[in-house]
Order: sequence, then C-alpha cells, then structure tokens
Amino acid sequence: MCGIVGFSSLDRPACVPLVNGLRRLEYRGYDSAGVALESPDGIKVFKKTGKVAELDKLLKERLGDEENAKCTIGIAHTRWATHGLPTEVNAHPHVADGGRLALVHNGIVENYAALRAQLEKKGCSFVSQTDTEVLAHLVAVFDRGDFLSAVSRALKKVEGTYGIAVISTRHPGEMVVARKGSSLVIGIGEGSTVVASDVSAIVAHTRQVIYLKDGDVARVTPGGVDIYTLDNVPVSREVQEVEWDAESVEKGGYEHFMLKEIFEQPETLRNTIRGRLDKVNCTAILSGLNLPPRELASIRRAVIIGCGTSLHAGMAGKYLFESLADIPTSPEQAAEFRYCNPIIGPDDWAIAVSQSGETADTLAAVRESIGKGALVSAICNVVGSTIAREAGRGVYLHAGPEISVASTKAFTSQVTVLAMIALKLGRARRLSREDGASICAELAALPDLVAKVLERNGDIAKVAEKYSGASDMFFLGRGILYPTALEGALKMKEISYVHAEGYQAAELKHGPIALLCEETPVVALLNDIPGKEKTVGNVQECRARKAPVVGIVTEGDESAAAHCNDVVYVPRTSAVVAPIVTVVALQLFAYHVARLRGCEIDQPRNLAKSVTVE
Ligand code: F6R
Repeated sequence: MCGIVGFSSLDRPACVPLVNGLRRLEYRGYDSAGVALESPDGIKVFKKTGKVAELDKLLKERLGDEENAKCTIGIAHTRWATHGLPTEVNAHPHVADGGRLALVHNGIVENYAALRAQLEKKGCSFVSQTDTEVLAHLVAVFDRGDFLSAVSRALKKVEGTYGIAVISTRHPGEMVVARKGSSLVIGIGEGSTVVASDVSAIVAHTRQVIYLKDGDVARVTPGGVDIYTLDNVPVSREVQEVEWDAESVEKGGYEHFMLKEIFEQPETLRNTIRGRLDKVNCTAILSGLNLPPRELASIRRAVIIGCGTSLHAGMAGKYLFESLADIPTSPEQAAEFRYCNPIIGPDDWAIAVSQSGETADTLAAVRESIGKGALVSAICNVVGSTIAREAGRGVYLHAGPEISVASTKAFTSQVTVLAMIALKLGRARRLSREDGASICAELAALPDLVAKVLERNGDIAKVAEKYSGASDMFFLGRGILYPTALEGALKMKEISYVHAEGYQAAELKHGPIALLCEETPVVALLNDIPGKEKTVGNVQECRARKAPVVGIVTEGDESAAAHCNDVVYVPRTSAVVAPIVTVVALQLFAYHVARLRGCEIDQPRNLAKSVTVE
C-alpha cells in the first residue's frame, strides 16, 4: 500500500536516498509517486503517475546538480489510490501555505469531508480529491511558530488513521512525523536521519531504528529525533537493532523476488524452527507465547484470525489444533470477525496471523478480542509491527523480509508455527510422548523436504507450459490440504490473472463440476495421507468430464499418478507437514504460469503488500 520515506541530513543531498527508499517500497503496490525537497528557495515538488523509475527520470531532467546539492531534507511517497483517481494532482506530497509546506500521508482521514468544508470556509483552496490535502492545510492553519505543536493540533482534529511526514520552509531543517494506525519507523544514521513506513527502506542507511507508537509525534533533524505525545509530553522510545541487512531485500540473482522467496524456504523454515523444538520433552519451546502449561491446558476454544494467505494458514491451523490438541478451533476472516460482534471471551484464545503485522482488519480484530477479554497472541513476520506489539505475546516467523506481493515463505512459516503451537498445546493436554517425538522429527526435517520439492522446479515449469494458456483452473484438496488448495488458487489468480478456484475435493460435484471441460485444468492434491483414495474418486469424476488433471502425488505412488494427465511429485510426509511441503509445488506452478503469460510477478495489478485500509 502507500509508502513514506523521509530523509534529513546536514550535507547529503536527499533526492537519491528518497528515490532509492521509494524503490524499496515498490513491492507494497502503488500507482503514483512523488518527492518534495526543501531548498533555500522554497519547496520543490515532483510527482508522476506510474512507476518510481518515471519519477526518477523526471527528477534527473528537472533538478539541476547545484539545486540537488542544496536540498538535504525531503519527503517522498508512493500512493495507492483510495480517495480520488491515481493522477499527478492526487499524488503526494500535497502542499499548503502557498507552497511553503509539503506533507505525505498513509492511512485514511475519515472526517476529511467535514474538515475540508471548514477549511474552505477559512479560505483554503484545494486542488486534489484526496483526504490527505486536508492534513496539509490543517497543519498550515495551526502553525503559529512551533512546527511540532502545529502538527499535533492538526492531528487532534483527525478521525481515522495516519502515518505522516511534513516539512515547511518556515521551519528549515525540521521534519515532523507522526503515526496512528499506520506504521512509521525512524532510522538513526551517522549525520542523517531516515524515516519510512517500512523498515526495508531504512536498512540501506542504518540498522538502528525507533518504531513510533500510535499517538507519537516526532521532530526529526539530521542529528536525531525528539518524540512527544499529541499533548506535547516528551516520551522515550527504545532504539532497536534491525536483524535484516540491505542484502536481504535484494533479488540475489533471481529474476523475481517471488522466485527468490520460494527458493529461500528451506532456510526460512530453518530460521522459524531454530531453537524451538524440544526433542527431550517432545514439544515446542515458544517462550514468546508466555503461556504456562496450566494456562494452555485450560483453553476452551481457539480462534485463528487473518486475511488472504494468512487466513489460509489459519485454516490449516484448525486441522492441526483439532487433531493434535483436541481444541475446537475456528479460522476467521478478520473483517468478517470484527464486524459480527464475535462471541469471544476469557476462555478463548484469539491468534492473529499476519505477515506484515499491519493489516487493518486483523489489527481491528485483535483489538476487538482484547476488548472482550480473550487471551490474544500474534503470529507475525515483521518484528515490532503494530499487531505484534498490541497482542503483546506471540511467535515471530523469522522468515526475513517478504518483498513479493504474493506471499510464499510467510505461509510456510505461518503453518510451521501453528504446527509447533499445536504440538505444544497437544503435549500440554493429551498428545503422547511418542506422537510428540514423531512430529518434532517431521518439523525438523521440513527444510530438507521443501528442498526436495524445489528440485522439481524444472518438471513444474514443464507442466506449467502445458497449461499456461488456460483461462480457468480448479484446485482440489481434502482435509488439511483444503486450505492448501485455496492457497494454490490464490497464488494462481494473484500473479497470473488466471481465474482459479480452490474447492474441497468433495464439494466440486455440488455445482462447480458444471464448469469442467477440456479447457479447465484441475490441480488435485493427492498426497498419500488419509483421505487420498476419496480424492482419487473425485479426480475420476473430473476426468469423466474431460478436464485434464495435474496431480500433486507422493513420490513412488504410481497408483495415484495413473489417474492424472500430469504429475508433480512431492516427498512422503504425514498430514501434519503435508500443507507446507505441497504448497511449494503450487507456488512454483503459479510462478511459471505467470512468467509464461508475461505478467508482472512481483507487483501484480491492483494488489498491495500490506493492506492498511479496511
Ligand atoms: C496473498 C497475500 C495477501 C495477504 C493478506 C494478509 O499472497 O499476500 O492475501 O496474505 O493481505 O496480509 P498479512 O499477512 O500481512 O496480514
């Protein structure tokens, strides 16, 4: 979604770091970009619809070397349209005060129409259709000499969410930033201070960062940062060291981030599991959950909340929790959950699953669950993200930055964490030592099992070639593999724009089978786990309607393979880790179909990496 970068230095030109920062945020999805630079002659604003490369070209054409050298403070933004079309006028930064002030904003000002009407009465004239322009005018109206106070007073009028950065030639050398419900990170470098909505735009400069909290407003200068509440009370925030280095947000020789991230999975899974399997007691060590066995044993029900891929991980979690720990578990789509006055209370455990830790609906569901007294935990990838902090306890994925919009490595780590939680819960309740030991062994073997699927990349590319022209596809799975079928279909539609549907294998004949014909390939998850024979029966139903079937089949299972037109082999596993191993084949399948169709894989149309609006 929208991205913010700010740069403040005494002597280094801001333009290049700002544009490079925007490039790091491209993966979040956007449709226009802009930069505002503070120069001794006023604020210079450059905007462009389309890619950051276009903005860079514009800056090279319009900003002379001498001018560039003088502009050492600036703000920049990538916009994903919410209010108003993706045009240059609507792109950020927005200006006010006769061009003396510029502001960038992530989030939504819900009461912008009322604020706009009041400001227009005071004589402010608006040029864009955005909610953001209201903020720029509000700050200008409240500016009576102290920049930070002006921003605080303006923000007190705002209903909604924001991450903002503002500069003004009335306050040279000063940038003010603030957040509420939209992340903002400040990087403390040597002689420069960097601000960004996402830590990946900061790591090229420094790994010393401060995560602002909701309600914080900060004065940023080349020498550092002073943080206050909106009521002007100084607060101190810990400086933290980011684990990721700049290299981990590069493509590392792969054609796309998505492919790199698919291939990283043996390593990311190793990191997710590291130090968390207790082979002596045949359980998992998840200290971040902060739940003693007594408390674990008393949980009545679990609710796993997420959106998109994270919801699919939660659906796999249901099977794991119920089969290993006997805990009734419901996976919940976060927006549906938050708006249905959910029945949840002190005996329930709400687990929010979110790669980014910033998804607006998931965050709201966390708040709803906390408000109703439930025990709340989070499974997040981004350390220090809002959901992770608000939940207070949880398990980090340690999967490293996921740049590709289509989530891959986060999913496998999410299901792995859920399996470890199920193991821990199960061992605290009824799972035998022997069963615990065999699950520990399978989880420990996961990186190698996934590596074996990756060895099939060439075979999968060949199958993809055969079906890349299809307009519709079906993905069938049963039991614990049903969420994997949904995830395979989601990957396919997101990046290749092929219409793809995931179904419970048995559900197909209750309607969707009417769509099957020679042109509708069916991907069937036929792993040799309980239920396979039934799915083989469903495959026969598809073949009888002439639909070609691509089977995901356990190595050596020639009898299942015989029912399919094409086969992708995966290693033999138990049901517990089958979703993790199997999805890797589906990720590669979707990737190759998208590549062959010439799609823009890392930044699919209309999608954003982190969905911070509801
Ligand atoms: C799919 C995808 C999305 C996200 C969803 C939730 O590839 O990336 O469906 O899974 O937007 O995002 P997080 O996990 O950040 O809460």
